[in-house]
Amino acid sequence: MSDRELRVSKIRNGTVIDHVSGGQALNVLSILGIDGSEGLGVSIVMNVPSAQLGKKDVVKVEDRELSQSEVDVLSLIAPEATINIIRDYEVTKKTRVDQPETVTGILSCPNHNCITNGGEPVETKFSIVPDGVRCAYCGTIIRDSIAEHIDTE
Ligand code: CTP
Ligand code: ZN
Repeated sequence: MSDRELRVSKIRNGTVIDHVSGGQALNVLSILGIDGSEGLGVSIVMNVPSAQLGKKDVVKVEDRELSQSEVDVLSLIAPEATINIIRDYEVTKKTRVDQPETVTGILSCPNHNCITNGGEPVETKFSIVPDGVRCAYCGTIIRDSIAEHIDTE
């Protein structure tokens, strides 16, 4: 990056989610359940040029690392994302998100008649399809705003 470009500061400890699809940064925060009230340091860059993606977002969260289920859901909205774990200013681990075949127990089905909403002890299960994610029980496809269907309990 040239000296003429503005960029947000490096962080000491935490996670940098890089190569996020342009415009998805706020959904990334929503998936992580971060709304600012936690007091974590958060920096967001949106729609900056990227050789790989055309436009990308970057989300830096200080003093927080991600769980595997959070990474699985992130892969749905940011399939090209790179997760960088930062410790004492150094990138100590860099992983690409890996799109799983199914997402279990994370998303809730929008169909009120779905067995997963019937008070039965049935874990939700969605498979990845070209236009979104599909409920394994009732076939409902969530196409947009996947982040809004994350079970936050
Ligand atoms: N980063 C940060 N704070 C640090 C170290 C790195 O915010 N202390 C950020 C960088 O700004 C970058 C990302 O973490 O957005 C990955 O850092 P690095 O691996 O050094 O950058 P690149 O080599 O450009 O990454 P890639 O090859 O994944 O594009
Ligand atoms: Zn369903």
